[in-house]
Amino acid sequence: MAVTRTLSIIKPDATRRNLTGRVTQMLEEAGLRVVASKRIRLTRAQAEAFYAVHRERPFFASLVAFMTSGPVVVQVLEGEDAVALNRRVMGATDPAQAEPGTIRRELAESIEANTVHGSDSDENAAREIAFFFSEIEIVG
Ligand code: CMP
Repeated sequence: MAVTRTLSIIKPDATRRNLTGRVTQMLEEAGLRVVASKRIRLTRAQAEAFYAVHRERPFFASLVAFMTSGPVVVQVLEGEDAVALNRRVMGATDPAQAEPGTIRRELAESIEANTVHGSDSDENAAREIAFFFSEIEIVG
């Protein structure tokens, strides 16, 4: 299996509860390496652009409001098959459906305030990483 990259976002529900370190520790203990990281406050335009694929969904306006409600920490994670590994560590979108021990099961507040985002394919990972980072900001 190849070493690849994925994009992670520690969401406003987690930064508000001071869980940045706890989430990062769970990612690292699972074998993912943080090769880029920054704490930012998304603008409405940035959140709408990042989640554009969901713009027709009934939860879109609420999602954008939530993602702009506080700081987020965007991270590039590197590891063996990083997209799939990160998705296993995160657990299902709905914390009630997530496996015990996963980040969302242990820490998420709701299906919307679900603590972390992770890319869902290598193609989207490349697009999402480029949305937030330039190559010189990523140091493996
Ligand atoms: P994420 O993995 O970042 O991708 C889209 C986000 O939309 C998702 O996590 C949740 O934060 C949110 N989301 C997905 N489904 C729902 C839903 N049914 N109701 C509210 N928010 C949702």
